Amino acid sequence: MGRLRTVHRCTECGAASPRWTGRCPGCGAWNSLVEEVEQATPASGGASGRSGGADRRMVPGERPIPLVDVEAGGGEPMPTGMAELDRVLGGGLVPGSVTLLAGEPGIGKSTITLQAAGSVAEVGRRVLLVSAEESKVQVRARAERLGVLAPTLWVAAETCLPDVLAGLSEVEPHLCVVDSVQMLHDPALESAPGSVAQVRQCATRLVEAAKSSGTAVIMIGHVTKEGAVAGPRVLEHVVDTVLSFEGDRHHALRMVRTVKHRYGAAGELGMFEMTGDGLVGVADPSRLLLADRQPDLSGSVVLPAIEGGRPLLVEVQALTVNNDNPATLRRSAQGLDSGRLQMVLAVLGRHLDLRFGTEDVYTSVVGGVRVGEPAADLAVMAALLSARHLSSVGGDTIAFGEVGLGGEVRSVVHAERRLAEAARLGFRRALVPNSAPDGPEGLELVRVGDVRQLLHALRL
Ligand code: TYD
Ligand code: MG
Repeated sequence: MGRLRTVHRCTECGAASPRWTGRCPGCGAWNSLVEEVEQATPASGGASGRSGGADRRMVPGERPIPLVDVEAGGGEPMPTGMAELDRVLGGGLVPGSVTLLAGEPGIGKSTITLQAAGSVAEVGRRVLLVSAEESKVQVRARAERLGVLAPTLWVAAETCLPDVLAGLSEVEPHLCVVDSVQMLHDPALESAPGSVAQVRQCATRLVEAAKSSGTAVIMIGHVTKEGAVAGPRVLEHVVDTVLSFEGDRHHALRMVRTVKHRYGAAGELGMFEMTGDGLVGVADPSRLLLADRQPDLSGSVVLPAIEGGRPLLVEVQALTVNNDNPATLRRSAQGLDSGRLQMVLAVLGRHLDLRFGTEDVYTSVVGGVRVGEPAADLAVMAALLSARHLSSVGGDTIAFGEVGLGGEVRSVVHAERRLAEAARLGFRRALVPNSAPDGPEGLELVRVGDVRQLLHALRL
């Protein structure tokens, strides 16, 4: 065993640094370094010897062979039985694969994995739940409540990695859920439980176990806004698939997004609603998102966003409030890209002489959805103009388009699908870039080439 040493490790990317610095030298994240005590590895392996889990599994001395002679592996994906989840995964969980499900505490990670575990067990497959956070009694109570108690569903309340691995070889499950990877620890490692080194060690050993046994493993990983616990980026390259579980705890809508997927497309999005009976797939998320909307509010406009390859209607809101103290001026972009909000404000200042120097600006996407695409620019701008003039954009109006620094409105991808979704939900008027294709019947297109034309179209 090596001697102990102190390192500063990034909770975002796992890079080690001998000194504390405000910014991670590896990934550039701010305030992400934490002090940890680790065993120094022998010089030959290098300090980061533990990180190369995937490569070390290669059989020593293996010779190159023609690619066509390699047996097609991976196996058929095993459906989880939750349609929205299976769609996102491209059919289900591949045997021997490891999936990291990352999300904030309380978002519903334990619930969705228990439901998936239950429906896998329901068809007679063995499933092992490793609960490192809740007791077996608590897991049983939740399983009963969700109606997923099945005879092939096993549980172990365990935090010690060797015991977890022993349980895996004893039960030989088709699926193993580890809730959560941050609560596991390997006594062979001196570092404290929950430290980056421990989390990575446990994840790497679980990956090895999954590959050698063919068990599909789902690891739950907590992310906090402060990044205090080892974030999923530390584990991203260790696992095959990273699912991000998103949404607002205070809203019913939950989204599962594939951030990385070795067996299918990344960027797919699954939609769920949290109900009293657990998570239920949402067939029409646009309708759910717009359910509480008051159509004729000022500062509100509907944006047909494209999320996970699907059109999704979301309400964009803006509010401006007087604030004469420049030191406390607020720019809030809830669910939107704050950089793009700054840019939209700058364009309004420069090209419409509309300045927000003595106003707090709040913008948000309702329902806990996050929209990062530039297509939101025109909707944000319309909402801001409407908020500033305390005048409604019109409850039946949607807007999308990218705004350039010259004040020009630029075309965006999937215009046709955005228009179709808007028409499906009964919208009548669409503020769109000049190049947008003709929309479906009943949807009047108002083409705006620049911000001046937008102001005109809004009749403000
Ligand atoms: P949970 O799965 O425990 O979250 P996580 O594992 O991500 O921390 O879910 C937490 C919330 O979900 C909790 O506030 C209660 C709520 N919930 C429901 O609304 N319905 C249900 O059927 C269940 C099981 C939980
Ligand atoms: Mg939980």
